[in-house]
Amino acid sequence: MSGTAVGIDIGGTGIKGAIVDLATGALLSDRIKIPTPKGGKPDGILATTVELLNRLEGLEPDAPVGVCFPAVVKHGVTLSAANISKKWIGLHAEELFEQALGRDITFANDADAAGYAEASFGAARGVDGVAIMTTLGTGIGTAILHNGVLVPNAEFGHLEIDGHDIETRASNAARERENLGWAEWAERLQKFYGALERYLSPDLFIVGGGVSKQHDEFIPLLSLSTPIVPAVHRNNAGILGAAALAVRTIPPLS
Ligand code: BGC
Repeated sequence: MSGTAVGIDIGGTGIKGAIVDLATGALLSDRIKIPTPKGGKPDGILATTVELLNRLEGLEPDAPVGVCFPAVVKHGVTLSAANISKKWIGLHAEELFEQALGRDITFANDADAAGYAEASFGAARGVDGVAIMTTLGTGIGTAILHNGVLVPNAEFGHLEIDGHDIETRASNAARERENLGWAEWAERLQKFYGALERYLSPDLFIVGGGVSKQHDEFIPLLSLSTPIVPAVHRNNAGILGAAALAVRTIPPLS
């Protein structure tokens, strides 16, 4: 992969962006982070994204731009809204961002972008078969990659397990909210990854999200037959993946 692109990662608490070197996944600009306007409504998020793009130094006018978002994104339309305003549901968000930014963009789900970042520059790079990316944060995001090709909009964080939407029990936010010890949390993660393993027979699980920095505390407690590894990119995964998706040139496996 060569060239550069801008990656913008929209989340419930912050909007982050940078210019990315697509050959290496390195950031070529400062990483700008602006708090998400309260309520995460469309007007506020659009205006903040415009501000972010204006603050990126060294931005070339024709640089490809990728934006990732915490929602199911189908043909540019946001079909859900996690930790942002429900007003996004049903909007042609891609078009709204293009109008606000005055340029074409590539628009994707945030976990899909994180998975694509790992396939391009991280733990799923060159993996032969099915890699499942999981992001353990406020919610649980998931992405399916087959030989580096993304199958978009997997929403396994909402699997119903023991009568609960699993993200409400096994996300990092649930761990913090309920003050769970690592072993208690790992029991819930075991149910989640165990179900994914049964249904998908993957070749690799990747664990992302800020908490994956502490992977030594919980990954060894899981009993799975699928290899499970921490993500290489944590806080920048959305930025890197959104940028890479804007160009989408993962070389096919030889
Ligand atoms: C949403 C996903 C999103 C994930 C991480 C979930 O609640 O349904 O679309 O990828 O949170 O933000």
